[in-house]
Amino acid sequence: MSATTFAPTAFAPTAEAESAVDQRLFRDVMGHLPTGVAAVTGIETETGKPAGMIVGTFQSLSLAPALVTFSVDRSSTSWPRIRTSGRFSISVLAEHQTDVCRALSRKGDDKFAGVDWVPSPENAAPHFRGAAAWLDCETVQELDGGDHVIVVGRVLYMEAGSTEPLVFHRGRLGGYRAPAAA
Ligand SMILES: Cc1cc2nc3c(=O)[nH]c(=O)nc-3n(C[C@H](O)[C@H](O)[C@H](O)COP(=O)(O)O)c2cc1C
Repeated sequence: MSATTFAPTAFAPTAEAESAVDQRLFRDVMGHLPTGVAAVTGIETETGKPAGMIVGTFQSLSLAPALVTFSVDRSSTSWPRIRTSGRFSISVLAEHQTDVCRALSRKGDDKFAGVDWVPSPENAAPHFRGAAAWLDCETVQELDGGDHVIVVGRVLYMEAGSTEPLVFHRGRLGGYRAPAAA
């Protein structure tokens, strides 16, 4: 992957289309869709240091080939560092990992201070012990998604744990609650 591919053609909605949607309402409405919480990590090629961020947009895209996707805000400072090696790692966070979520979702260079992690099998990027699942991927495409970039990755390695997932719903972190048996 070349450094220039992080800036796909800018999405340019008309002023009319932009004003038609109330952004706060859009955020509120979409907040009713519960999502998982995934830590995206990588090793920055230049410095050899770990970089990471939290996404609620991680999901599977294709079975054959095995592809996954997530969206990155164009203002992210972590993704340009994660993407330098052309590979990234995912830890699907467990219910008890709100501390990892908080550490990786704040801005700054010291996100990994005091956070326990182990190197992933495929790219040595941080995996978090006790997560619900782990994947290592190579970045195959970055597509235009308005003010976000849609990242597509090919799965190189995957493993599932046995912990319950962390869930993000209506602006709050919580756990998954199984429906009561009928
Ligand atoms: C539950 C949750 C879900 C998030 N989902 C996304 C996401 O899908 N895409 C994104 O770019 N940022 C998302 N963020 C924000 C980033 O994790 C983080 O705040 C940002 O990357 C930090 O800035 P940096 O990239 O400059 O380090 C999410 C944050 C939280 C807490």
